Amino acid sequence: MLYRLYQKHIFPHVLNQVMQTSSLMDLRRELMLNISGEVLEIGFGTGLNLAFYQGVDTVYALEPNLDIYALAAERIQLTPFHVEHICASAEQIPLPNDHVEHIISTWTLCSIPDLNQSLQELYRVLKPGGTLHVLEHVLNRENLNIQRMQHVLTPIQKLVADGCHLNRDIETLLLETGFDIQHAQYINAVGIPKIGQRMLLARVTKPF
Ligand SMILES: C[S@@+](CC[C@H](N)C(=O)[O-])C[C@H]1O[C@@H](n2cnc3c(N)ncnc32)[C@H](O)[C@@H]1O
Repeated sequence: MLYRLYQKHIFPHVLNQVMQTSSLMDLRRELMLNISGEVLEIGFGTGLNLAFYQGVDTVYALEPNLDIYALAAERIQLTPFHVEHICASAEQIPLPNDHVEHIISTWTLCSIPDLNQSLQELYRVLKPGGTLHVLEHVLNRENLNIQRMQHVLTPIQKLVADGCHLNRDIETLLLETGFDIQHAQYINAVGIPKIGQRMLLARVTKPF
């Protein structure tokens, strides 16, 4: 009961604040460069990427959590392009095969319960030659002590942060799904605790 109240009334506001940390906003800006046309954004959250889209016609905003999506309303109203809400999970995307040119995921792949299923869905709906742009906190491959802490603390993180895993090796999972890596860059984000500081900014394509 208390946990449900926390998830419904407190967590969405905490998420909205934390995800506006200035180093994260800078990374969003970098990810959104040169993305145009129709875009599918998974785990749309509170709409914090909207300000950085340029030359976009439509954003399909896939977000299953209505308490979180409600906090995007004002940002959507101020947006000059079309935003269409898709209330669904990334494990089952209600779009046809080979449909979109660009997919965006910012700090969402950490939270999806069945990540393998979801990556297969992203691969399915992406056009051949299309790009999945990801910005995620990841398993720290460089530092074994931090990595150990990421494994130990993930069960607690999942409880307080709506299913978020600290220990996912996203680059490996993208390769295993069949994506081609065009660009992959690791960054330690400023102002974020070491346990979740290691970020992957990557652009991966679905081969023709
Ligand atoms: C850490 S938040 C990031 C929100 C947003 N992408 C951002 O950059 O601020 C993770 C988001 O993933 C969403 N999410 C959780 N499970 C999901 C699923 N199975 N499919 C799609 N989105 C999911 C959550 O509701 C939440 O909005």
